[in-house]
Amino acid sequence: MSNAPVYHIDPTAFHADPYPDLAAMRAHSPVCYVPELGASLFTRRDDIFREEKRIALFSSHQPEGLLTKVMGANMMRKDGEAHMAERRALFPALSPRTVRDVLAPQFADIVARQLKRITPRGSCDLVTDYAMPVAADALRVMTGLTNMAAADMDAASQAMLDAAANYQRDPDVDHKGYAAAEQVLALIKARLPELRAAPDLSIISVLDQAGLSLDAIAGNVRVIIGGGQNEPRDAIAGTVWALLRHPDQHAQIRQGAATWGDAFDEYVRLVAPIGMSPRRVAHNDSACGVAFEENELIFFMFGAACRDPAHFDDPDRFDIRRNTRPAIPFGAGPHFCAGAAASRALIADHALPALFDALPGLRIAGDVPFAGWAFRGPVQLPVAWDV
Ligand code: HEM
Repeated sequence: MSNAPVYHIDPTAFHADPYPDLAAMRAHSPVCYVPELGASLFTRRDDIFREEKRIALFSSHQPEGLLTKVMGANMMRKDGEAHMAERRALFPALSPRTVRDVLAPQFADIVARQLKRITPRGSCDLVTDYAMPVAADALRVMTGLTNMAAADMDAASQAMLDAAANYQRDPDVDHKGYAAAEQVLALIKARLPELRAAPDLSIISVLDQAGLSLDAIAGNVRVIIGGGQNEPRDAIAGTVWALLRHPDQHAQIRQGAATWGDAFDEYVRLVAPIGMSPRRVAHNDSACGVAFEENELIFFMFGAACRDPAHFDDPDRFDIRRNTRPAIPFGAGPHFCAGAAASRALIADHALPALFDALPGLRIAGDVPFAGWAFRGPVQLPVAWDV
């Protein structure tokens, strides 16, 4: 175990709101061992920005980790050339040009279709009735899993993530997670003959064209479903919540003094949808003045980094005019999110502007609870508008 100072958390309070603890850690023990999580946490932005690149020490290769067990081997849990080979294979599906020419027009259609469905209703839960199906439909297009229903995409994502975090080994949670992983494999197998007959720029097709095995395709598609469903969902609903709470900042966008991209960047800084990324210590060594032992677990806490007062004045405040460039909600090393450009296009170019255009008088109509520290977002966002 590392010799980092020990910091205890109350897991329930940390799940409800991790930010007070993260602020205390960052200020007084920026690398600390948290017994309740069984890991040492890095909480300062500059430490994470630097140490995440030391892949020989802080390795992503965690063959015994639950995520690898549930989802299969995938690029997020590989280092060096083994990782880069799969990143290169994935690139054509999510490159800036594919986002602009292939995905963006489909994102526009998806958003228009979902808005047409909810507009006459006058009220909804924006998380489940808009953000979730928009994220799922976008993921169907990006992955090529057009044979998977939107609700199944959301359920499979949640089930696999729950099983990957099932350290208590609850058999029911395991059962659902492994069943979802099997379901994804069956749907990939069903799509492959069509995609081989007519290859395209979907994730399944580009990985297959690059020669990845069925297992490798399935592992990567599962991890992308795990990370590519809930995060856009949470970022869409969360940015809407933040703008509705700050009408002056929404007005700045309307007046052209700020952009939807500014709002998206600032929301994912304020509430990083993926709050942390784990690494395994590959050998005994030290970092940030702490000695680590081989095979122990560390967490890079992106959520804490994005509120580091060394980079952001009044970091707990939503302010779309601030400079968000130092923020690292998509990571800061070789595993930098492969879907960042696609997410930005989906959310800032389509999901947000089209929503505010379509729903006049959009307003919050109830409580908006947030939850989570590894993954964080609004649990529900009741809204109403004028019909
Ligand atoms: C707002 C939405 C999203 C956020 C905030 C987000 C955030 C992240 C973060 C923090 C990581 C880990 C980075 C690290 O460890 O350094 C990651 C990895 C990844 N993300 Fe995203 N993500 C989002 C959406 C997506 C989408 C839509 C896709 C694909 C369709 C995607 C695909 C990936 C992949 C493949 C990786 C692993 C990259 C690698 O290991 O090289 N993400 N993402």
